[in-house]
Amino acid sequence: MAIIIKTQDQIALIRESCRRLAIVHKELEQFIRPGISTKDIDIQGDKLIRQLGGIPNFLHYNGYPASICVSVNDEVVHGIPSKHRILQEGDIVSLDAGMIYQGYHSDAARTHAVGQISKEARQLIDVTRESFFAGIKMAKAGNHLFDISNAIAAYVKPYGYGIVRDLVGHGVGTKLHEDPQVPNFAQLRRGPKLRAGMTLAIEPMINMGRADVEWLDDDWTVVSEDGSLSAHYENTVLITDGEPEILTMY
Ligand code: MF3
Ligand code: CO
Repeated sequence: MAIIIKTQDQIALIRESCRRLAIVHKELEQFIRPGISTKDIDIQGDKLIRQLGGIPNFLHYNGYPASICVSVNDEVVHGIPSKHRILQEGDIVSLDAGMIYQGYHSDAARTHAVGQISKEARQLIDVTRESFFAGIKMAKAGNHLFDISNAIAAYVKPYGYGIVRDLVGHGVGTKLHEDPQVPNFAQLRRGPKLRAGMTLAIEPMINMGRADVEWLDDDWTVVSEDGSLSAHYENTVLITDGEPEILTMY
């Protein structure tokens, strides 16, 4: 496992890629409403990424057919946008987006409410986001990678939600997925030591019910096995000697 420490020049480009991606997410959030299709979101996201000078990095990645992953309700991640999938009031929808800007990747995800949603769904979205922030409290040089994982897991535990284990966060740089893998569930080991200049996508995926997931026949869409709602929150983060820099926050 080789974790790449980025130079200042590389960090400047990743930062710029991430800054632009944050704008894409902010715009897409405004766009969410009942009656639009998941394909509408993909079209809009693809357009925004390109307008901002980026290239959609998910499009054609291992054959993935869209620029934005749009995952509704029990879909955990990697939902394939479709003009037939219409968002309804009360749905929750996870948008995962990324771009390449001047050779550098960015990656971030948000789960949004479609109109009014249940208290339970709102709590799932909030706890998922909060677990990310609990995790990055540990994200500083000198700590160990799995301090982040353990902090996320400890934050979620009292809620009894299922932390997805089959998918994890990752390093980000000139590739979308670099070492290390960043699990969101409790670890027995400490993992590699964090160093300033590491850029990591930290991305808890949390099910309201059990943690188990399965893949649909499209070979992409990951759903909760028990059909429970699932939320996702991801940012690309820069490790520094002090507080981490959350590069994809608006
Ligand atoms: N954001 C996803 C991740 O962190 C990547 C989407 S996979 C793709 O792994 F194929 F849709 F690009
Ligand atoms: Co990611």
